[in-house]
Amino acid sequence: MDRRHFIRMTFAGSALGIIAPSTVLAGSNAMAGGVFYTKDAPGRWSKKVSGHLPIIKISKGQDGTAAQVVTPHEMKGYDHYIVKHMLLDHNYQFIAETMFNPMEDKAPISNYQLGDYQGALYALSVCNKHDSWLNVVEV
Ligand SMILES: [Fe+2]
Repeated sequence: MDRRHFIRMTFAGSALGIIAPSTVLAGSNAMAGGVFYTKDAPGRWSKKVSGHLPIIKISKGQDGTAAQVVTPHEMKGYDHYIVKHMLLDHNYQFIAETMFNPMEDKAPISNYQLGDYQGALYALSVCNKHDSWLNVVEV
């Protein structure tokens, strides 16, 4: 592949990364694939999706709705680990966060009580090397 073709392909990939997430995550967001990453807009980390995309599990019980966020990522001390999880509401407003200690936490798993919350629930998972990853579920 010559240099000019490579540059053209790189630009096209970047443009797709900016456009694609608007069809996946609610609303349109030109920052996906650049400022943060999603399954469909992994940007420069396209080979890192499975280890970085947070998985959100919702359960409903007597105490209301609960959410568990899991990132299937290693906790290799301060060398490579998940720094934190954040929960955001349907307007991307902060609900809660969990900081991880890579020397003590064996896996990046966090749990939240949501009461009677309904609507889109976003989870952001932050890797110390591979940036911030956003996923969403409907509660
Ligand atoms: Fe990572």
